[in-house]
Amino acid sequence: MSIRRLPEHLVNRIAAGEVVERPASALKELVENAIDAGASRIAVSLAAGGIGRIEVTDDGCGMSPADMALALERHATSKLPDDLIEAVSTLGFRGEALPSIASVARLTMESRVRGADGWSLSIDNGRLAGEGPAALPPGTRIRVEGLFERVPARRKFLRSDRSEYAACLDVVKRLAMARPDIGFTLESEGRRTLSVQPGEDRPARVAALTDRGLHENSVAVDYVRGSARLGGVAGLPTFNRGISDHQFLFVNGRPVKDRLLIGAVRAAYQDLLARDRHPILALFIDLPGEEVDVNVHPAKTEVRFRDPAGIRGLIVGGLRHALDEAGHRSAQRPSASALGNWTSPSPDPFRHSRESGNPASSFFTPAFFPNTESGTPAFAGVTEHGVADTRSAFLPHARAETAEAPPPNAASFPLGVARGQVAATYIVAEAEDGLVLVDQHAAHERLVLERMRRALANGGVARQVLLLPEVVELEEPACDRLEARAEELAEMGLELERFGARAVLVRATPALLGAGDVRGLVTDLADELAAFDEALSLKEKLDHVAATMACHGSVRAGRILSVAEMNALLREMEVTPHSGQCNHGRPTWVKLAHGDIEKLFGRK
Ligand SMILES: Nc1ncnc2c1ncn2[C@@H]1O[C@H](COP(=O)(O)OP(=O)(O)OP(=O)(O)O)[C@@H](O)[C@H]1O
Ligand SMILES: [Mg+2]
Repeated sequence: MSIRRLPEHLVNRIAAGEVVERPASALKELVENAIDAGASRIAVSLAAGGIGRIEVTDDGCGMSPADMALALERHATSKLPDDLIEAVSTLGFRGEALPSIASVARLTMESRVRGADGWSLSIDNGRLAGEGPAALPPGTRIRVEGLFERVPARRKFLRSDRSEYAACLDVVKRLAMARPDIGFTLESEGRRTLSVQPGEDRPARVAALTDRGLHENSVAVDYVRGSARLGGVAGLPTFNRGISDHQFLFVNGRPVKDRLLIGAVRAAYQDLLARDRHPILALFIDLPGEEVDVNVHPAKTEVRFRDPAGIRGLIVGGLRHALDEAGHRSAQRPSASALGNWTSPSPDPFRHSRESGNPASSFFTPAFFPNTESGTPAFAGVTEHGVADTRSAFLPHARAETAEAPPPNAASFPLGVARGQVAATYIVAEAEDGLVLVDQHAAHERLVLERMRRALANGGVARQVLLLPEVVELEEPACDRLEARAEELAEMGLELERFGARAVLVRATPALLGAGDVRGLVTDLADELAAFDEALSLKEKLDHVAATMACHGSVRAGRILSVAEMNALLREMEVTPHSGQCNHGRPTWVKLAHGDIEKLFGRK
């Protein structure tokens, strides 16, 4: 299709603004163009994270020499055949990208239409630098070098090569996820860092680009609501991560970042996941063009829906449906015998009121226990030693263990003596003046932070050397981030080193964590580091690091503790400053005084 200049009235409707902010945004435009050109294979090559060089080669339709010249003019496009931005089916439509890039870099474009000769055209920061015949297979190759070299004010805002590379990788991943029919390769500094074959099915492509484990730990989503359809892959709640960067959202094949979508995902997983955990997922929304406006952001990464509430309903409904169907929610329902144990003395004293629909049964309604659809209460009996996953934190699992030989004098302990554990999350303790409930995870997080502060002040955190070093496989940028911080992490007791391109070798973990989950810890720390400013030392972010570490220590929520462990935690809390508040300012324990209990029962 040939390129034309857009009429004035359309130009004025196009969302104006900066198209190129960093190498990744230029790369995004180039790969989108290759996709729009009908390529079946797209090869990307980078030097210095794209700051030095970006090169994109495709086997798409190519351009004639005349079209190549037009392509570099502003508002000239072969797309938008009907002048209807609403009906656009290509990723591009503004005719802005190539001229924007060419105005701030050296751009060389080589292209060849099948059956014709190839042509090459170079632009140096907005000026024609040369053109002539070129030899290449049918398709297009565009090279961008020295981005922002002549615009120091912009160059200043670029981050390290590593960060820019990570952003480029993210761009390629998102577009590759959107188009499993196309093959993609990414090469950085001469090394192949991503390669996916054309013609994969969507779940395989998503797993290849996120986490190979996702395949076994996800459910397929396919849900229709009105004229919109939701498809994709949703990770199981237990297969979660510490940041939401592993959520990929697409609207009509376009990767987008949208708060509405992110909020809807959070709502769908709300009672399945702890608040600071996020699922891995890739969701594809397809809906008629007039239902969504893609022309609201200069980089086309945001969209506006005509019916936002309907889209939210589509996502929440679709995810819930998929997770329910797979039976993973019901898997947590208690057995009838466990229920019997809990509600003894039998016969079940609530059965009558429940069957007769007596309002007294509302205690057992689904509204009260959001994880159950039937009227079956989600109790686990005293015999069931809770399933230690994040979901159990939301189910009233309970457990009682007789505290062997309780210390004779509970009065001497402000937080009392541990009597048991609820929901594998809360410690119930008896103090002289009342009942104490402790959030074990929040408390432990605080203790880890305080211990770490003290240890760092005294020269370093004690390590526990692993019997066998553990290899943790991670994405390359994640390994880069950990490697860059290895010295600082070692001071905090975590010893690791690079182990090939996509793994780290962990030799020691902070002793104060106890036997924790090394893989989870390292994966989450890598995520966490991505959110930190590279210029900040980890000590300045100690509360975050400690919180992440504590998440994988031995006292996390969902872990069954022995009475001795519980008492040890209480005793440490009593002697640790600030232990009444977790690192996020929430209380770590609450007390119900004897007088309050009496009031609850109307005795006072
Ligand atoms: N890799 C390519 N293969 C074939 N044609 C291309 C390629 N890249 C660009 N073109 C042509 O150049 C034109 C201009 O590209 P450019 O990216 O500047 O604008 P666009 O894709 O039309 O719109 P947008 O600014 O929204 O990306 C395109 O419309 C297309 O016809
Ligand atoms: Mg384009």
